[in-house]
Amino acid sequence: MKVTVFGIGYVGLVQAAVLAEVGHEVVCIDVDQNKVDNLKNGVIPIYEPGLTPLVTSNYEGGRLSFTTDAQKGVEHGELIFIAVGTPPDEDGSADLKYVLAVAKTIAEHMTSHKIIINKSTVPVGTADKVKAKVNETLTALDKNVSFDVVSNPEFLKEGAAVSDCMRPDRIVLGTDSEKAKDKLRELYAPFNRNHDKVIIMDIRSAELTKYAANCMLATKISFMNEIANLAELFGADIENVRRGIGSDRRIGYQFIYPGCGYGGSCFPKDVQALVRSANGVGYKARILESVEAVNYEQKEKLFSYIQRHFKGDIKGKTVALWGLSFKPNTDDMREASSRVLMEALWEAGACVQAYDPEAMEETQRIYGSRSDLKLMGTKESALDGADFLVIVTEWQAFRAPDFALMKEKLSEPLVFDGRNLFEPERMAEYGLKYYAIGRGLSV
Ligand code: UGA
Repeated sequence: MKVTVFGIGYVGLVQAAVLAEVGHEVVCIDVDQNKVDNLKNGVIPIYEPGLTPLVTSNYEGGRLSFTTDAQKGVEHGELIFIAVGTPPDEDGSADLKYVLAVAKTIAEHMTSHKIIINKSTVPVGTADKVKAKVNETLTALDKNVSFDVVSNPEFLKEGAAVSDCMRPDRIVLGTDSEKAKDKLRELYAPFNRNHDKVIIMDIRSAELTKYAANCMLATKISFMNEIANLAELFGADIENVRRGIGSDRRIGYQFIYPGCGYGGSCFPKDVQALVRSANGVGYKARILESVEAVNYEQKEKLFSYIQRHFKGDIKGKTVALWGLSFKPNTDDMREASSRVLMEALWEAGACVQAYDPEAMEETQRIYGSRSDLKLMGTKESALDGADFLVIVTEWQAFRAPDFALMKEKLSEPLVFDGRNLFEPERMAEYGLKYYAIGRGLSV
């Protein structure tokens, strides 16, 4: 089938590559000429396992192309995805200016029936706004062309985006059109084998499903972090509690890992956006407001442990930091807990020696060169001359370090662990003082 994707960001690029891989002919449109040129030369703007070979092979095979020419894109696809960003505006609401600009562009260039599919995470009611924008533009141009608008939210996770997209748990389609339903079933047929994963519903429910899924996951994390804070105060160990409750299948083991807060481009933004949209319809979303507030404080947790340990005096200390990205297997540092920590350490007069397997360039891009930030080539060299270690991201490579070397290199045998990677007993055996989240041990 002929498909066009507006917006070569995370969601757009992965979706486009995966659709091309199964044989659809996909044209990607972006306003950023540089990004388009880079993609044509095999330079992929994000780090995502498996994405580079998928993009290059499909580009070379002629099933995937990149252009800034919107007219060409609209002419090409009967199915047109909108996958542009919806950044939060000043009050945390999702800003729809890019989505509506694409809707206008589609209307300007369309000459035959189009199915416009919204992939971006957008507030409930956006499909109606897209419809209105297309209709308004068609009327202004005196054009009479039919179209459908579908809500088809994306549920991929960074770091596992290609496999999530290839093997989705569910394919949610919000539509009021039989034609659109049939066409989308055909489009997704290669991903819908074994059992039917397509869930068809009305458009507003599909839009809300996306927010509800992310907000539920964020709620699980903040809930667990709240219990971790209580465990500390009660002298309990959250890791025992986690295992104890996860074994109840109604609760499950997923997304109940306590830590130094959730980050990324989705949870913080989506929780905030749903709180704002709720306000807009006269509802105070108290649970979600608390989810956000707990997470905000949780990101300051490691710094507060450090402050407490050093009685507020960390001026001149050198801090080894392992992990900069908001989670493993990505170089994304949006809303990363590492940023909250580093900024607090700098403010208190400490220096940071950091290592991350993927996010070093991104850190450099965000913070530039500064005397209190050194980016080190390995996790071991980050320990050289450091006073103590802080772990912020649970990269696999950090799970089995050389503890003896760690002790030898640090001027104080002290580890603050924001992701609970180690067993406190083992750390004690190595002579390392260990602070973890909600383990009530060294606190
Ligand atoms: C999230 C959702 O998991 C996806 O389903 C969704 O499609 C995506 O947002 C989106 O809306 O685009 P993502 O932001 O890539 O995916 O990352 P997650 O793996 O969900 O992790 C988010 C944050 O939660 C990370 O900072 C992670 O460290 C933290 N986390 C996760 C915890 O602190 N504890 C946990 O138990 C799980």
